[in-house]
This record gives sequence, structure tokens and C-alpha cells, in this order.
Amino acid sequence: MASFKIITRGLATSAARNAIKNVTVIGGGLMGSGIAQVAAQTGHNVTLVEVNADILKKAEGSIVNSVGRVAKKMYKDDAAAAKKFLEETQSRIKGSTEPAKSVSDADLVIEAIVENMDIKHKLFKSLDEAAPAKTIFASNTSSLSIGEIASVTSRKDRFGGLHFFNPVAVMKLLEVVRIPETSEDTYQAMMAWGKAIGKTCITCKDTPGFVVNRLLVPYLAEAIRMMERGDASARDIDIAMKLGAGYPMGPIELSDYVGHDTSNSIVQGWHKKFPDNPLFKPCDSQQKLVAAGKLGVKTGEGYYKYNK
Ligand SMILES: NC(=O)c1ccc[n+]([C@@H]2O[C@H](COP(=O)([O-])OP(=O)(O)OC[C@H]3O[C@@H](n4cnc5c(N)ncnc54)[C@H](O)[C@@H]3O)[C@@H](O)[C@H]2O)c1
Repeated sequence: MASFKIITRGLATSAARNAIKNVTVIGGGLMGSGIAQVAAQTGHNVTLVEVNADILKKAEGSIVNSVGRVAKKMYKDDAAAAKKFLEETQSRIKGSTEPAKSVSDADLVIEAIVENMDIKHKLFKSLDEAAPAKTIFASNTSSLSIGEIASVTSRKDRFGGLHFFNPVAVMKLLEVVRIPETSEDTYQAMMAWGKAIGKTCITCKDTPGFVVNRLLVPYLAEAIRMMERGDASARDIDIAMKLGAGYPMGPIELSDYVGHDTSNSIVQGWHKKFPDNPLFKPCDSQQKLVAAGKLGVKTGEGYYKYNK
């Protein structure tokens, strides 16, 4: 990244496993940028890896904008302190387009690339060969099995899930996912790091969707099925859950907000793996929306229409 300074890192030893300092984030999209941001804001040395310099530059821009907003909020009446916070945060992030080199002194690697098992396998296989033994690996996957992702590495005891929520800088929750092989040391290190970056951590086994998506995705799908059956209109289902259950958004508007491509691909993946579970059955109307490019708020139309 052109304007991020190259930083010098201190030597880390295996004894430092419980004090994660150097973090490599692979993938600088929506989630990876946010993860890099919160890690740098809380004093960690971050290397952010992308596929090319142009995308890295875009990630850099979005991080600088987002840290700027945080700084303004934190130091409302102190422009100099806000500037210092922004500069210090920025100085802790360096960019890279070389995954293998980027993990040479990492205590923790967090993968936030496309939701595709083959691509994640290819990445983790090469990282496993390049990273030192001490390095803990984590995936931010929303819907794939952590155990299956870890299966191509020789460090399953140093592997887990760190599942963040969008927008990362704002959402407080971090789901820390253990596979059966995750060692107690690795688990404790991930929990301690989650706390150090200001998140509230919960622990979960490696089950589809972990806690939040396992409950949320079938709930949204059932609301859509209810609408498809004609039991109630979209508007009435949304009003019902807001006023009757106290939810801030109704399920149909929430599914428009999440994006139908995202929800549909999660459900499709689970349905393929667990065809007998009726909760994971894809919804006809949602598949039609995806085919028509009506992905929800982000495209201006889903079940509702939005002014762009
Ligand atoms: N979007 C969400 O709300 C959300 C929430 C929680 C978890 N997740 C998970 O986080 C991951 C990333 O999602 P996203 O929404 O940030 O996606 P995104 O498409 O915004 O970003 C993915 C980035 O990864 C980069 N990339 C792809 N292959 C790469 C490689 N081999 N090396 C380096 N970079 C690579 C792409 O260039 C892209 O910028 C997925 O596994 C997703 O399931 C997403």
C-alpha cells in the first residue's frame, strides 16, 4: 500500500502465543478491511493481503475513511488527537500481495477471502507451508465448516474460527469457533485477542452457521416461506415481528438488507450438505430474485423497492 508505512516488528517466540501482536489478514474486502482496522486501532501490527495493488489501494481508502470516522467520534473536540489516532492506526498497517511472505512473523492469520472451499483450501495449504509453527490460523467464513477448511493444514490444533459481523468496526460480537482438534492454548489465545480488540466473544462448536446465522438464516427463510404461502404479506410479517417480538427490523426487510445472493448461497450450501433438514430448504421467490439481480437494498430492489 503506497501510503502505509512499512513497519519493523519485534521477534515473537512461541511463548508469546497468548499475546497476539502480529496479525495477517488475508482478503481486504468488506470484512477483511474491517478486521484489519479494528486490529490496528487496538495496537496490533497488521499485514493486509490482497490479490493485487489496485484492490489493496481500495481497501486502504476504505480503512482510512472508516478510522477517520471513528477518530472524529472518539475525539470530538480535539482535532489533533483525532489526527494522531488516525496516523498511528495507519502506521500499524502494511499491505502485501504475497500471502506466503506476509505470514513469516505472524502470531495470527485471519482469512477473509471469497466463500469458496477450494479457494480457501488452496490458500491455507500454501500458508501452512510458509508460516512458522507458532502461527494460529483462523477463518472468518460465515457458512463453511472450519474443520473442513483446516483439513488441508498440518496445524489443526492451531486452527479455529473467528467469525466477525458486518460492519466489523461497529458490531460488538465475535464468535470463536473450536474444532475438536483446537488446543486449549489456541482457544485461549483467540479469546484473549478477541477481548483485546474490544469484542465480546462467545464460544461455539463447528456447526453450520455457528450461533447467529444458524438461528437467523432459517428464521429469515421461514418468514419468506410464510409470505410465499400467502399466510401474511411482507409488510404485515415485518410489522408483526417489530411490534410483537420487539425486533428492530422485520425479517423480510432484514433479508433485503443482508442481500439475497448471500442468504441464498448460504442456504444452498447447507441444503446440499444436509438435504433432509427442512430448515435449510432454499426459497423459490428468493432464487427468482437472485436470478433477476434483485439482491435487496444494495441493488435498489428485493422484496421491497428502495430509492438509491
Ligand atoms: N459480508 C458479510 O457480512 C460477512 C460476515 C461475516 C463473515 N463473512 C465471511 O467473510 C469472508 C469474506 O467476505 P466479504 O464479504 O469480506 O467478501 P468480499 O468479496 O468483500 O472480499 C473478499 C476479498 O478477498 C479477496 N481475495 C480473494 N481471494 C484472495 C486470495 N487468495 N488472497 C487474498 N485475497 C483474496 C478479494 O479480492 C476480495 O477483496 C467470507 O468467507 C464470508 O463468508 C462475511
